[in-house]
Amino acid sequence: MSGDVADRATAGFRQRYDAEPAGRWAAPGRVNLIGEHTDYNDGFVLPFALPLRTVVAAAPGPDGRWTVWSELDDEPVEFGAVEADEPGRVDGWAAYVAGVVWALRAVGLDVPGARLAIASDVPVGSGLSSSAAIESAVLAALVDLGGLDLPTDRWPRLAQRAENDYVGAPTGIMDQSAVVRAREGHALFLDCRTEEVEQIPFDLDADGLAVLVVDSRAPHRHADGEYASRRKSCERAAATLGVAALRDVPTADLDAALARLDDDETRRRVRHVVTENQRVLDTVALLRAGRVRDTGPLLTASHASMRDDFEITVPEVDTAVEAALAAGAYGARMTGGGFGGCVLALVDAGAAERVAAAVAAAYAERGFAAPGTLTVLPAGGAHRLP
Ligand code: GLA
Repeated sequence: MSGDVADRATAGFRQRYDAEPAGRWAAPGRVNLIGEHTDYNDGFVLPFALPLRTVVAAAPGPDGRWTVWSELDDEPVEFGAVEADEPGRVDGWAAYVAGVVWALRAVGLDVPGARLAIASDVPVGSGLSSSAAIESAVLAALVDLGGLDLPTDRWPRLAQRAENDYVGAPTGIMDQSAVVRAREGHALFLDCRTEEVEQIPFDLDADGLAVLVVDSRAPHRHADGEYASRRKSCERAAATLGVAALRDVPTADLDAALARLDDDETRRRVRHVVTENQRVLDTVALLRAGRVRDTGPLLTASHASMRDDFEITVPEVDTAVEAALAAGAYGARMTGGGFGGCVLALVDAGAAERVAAAVAAAYAERGFAAPGTLTVLPAGGAHRLP
């Protein structure tokens, strides 16, 4: 899609509804700096928002009816309260919109009928949270249009419920939190149990650094089923260990906990989660001390843990990480749920192009489809556009 994303949403609205939108609301995609598969274990994550955004242009519509158009699709989707109240009735991309209506109605809010037009620069299926972006932008629009009494710190949980219970994907709270609560120039340190956040300064620009995001373009390999099975195995392990969640296993007790588990696969899953939580805490400590470059080895260790213990990487992402490190990145890791998606590399800003070229060359050598690359700085969360 070409042109500014907010302009595309407005143009789509005018063309589809022959009217002016009442407003436009934006929500970004995200990458996770570190802390993978820790969110649903009540642990810690450290994501930041991307400059790529989804924009919803919207205006009030007939009571109890929602019409939504997306540039992904020629035809708009229309649904009423009956369909919104029954998870699964609306499917495809529009399920994320119906899910938000459902989640708001489920907590007793009087969601206004609306017409919506959606445009997005967040690529779908790349692990950059295009789904949390659409959920959060729609949520922001409906809250404003209806004058709903819903403080933003409640938005992530509602958007997550839309995804878990309406769309049917058993994800954690990280993506929606990042998309809603992130602040420009900061990474969002989130305790997924208490939902407390701390904005950690992550001013890459001032340090002459950048994060290179590599889209591995790896074909989807049963990501949904694998995600759900990792989650189940963590929950089973927590039950065996007699804790509410794996977050309750302190690093110092890891060996003792592993000794109480009777299969090697579960031991590796637990080791990933416990060590990953510690790596988030260590990364936060380094960032607080202004030692951004020194976080590199933690990022790379996180990748090794996802590859060897949690077993969620694929050859394309491993290749991207190895090539980025060989080309001088301070650290590199896969980001997001796994089985493809994106890799991030912490690099000197001046070296980003060289590292990207090295990854592309390694891909060509292995016969993989060319990767996408993008240099990013931390952006802000969901908001209404002026
Ligand atoms: C996906 C999910 C998140 C989180 C990550 C893995 O992005 O949506 O909730 O579990 O995977 O860290």
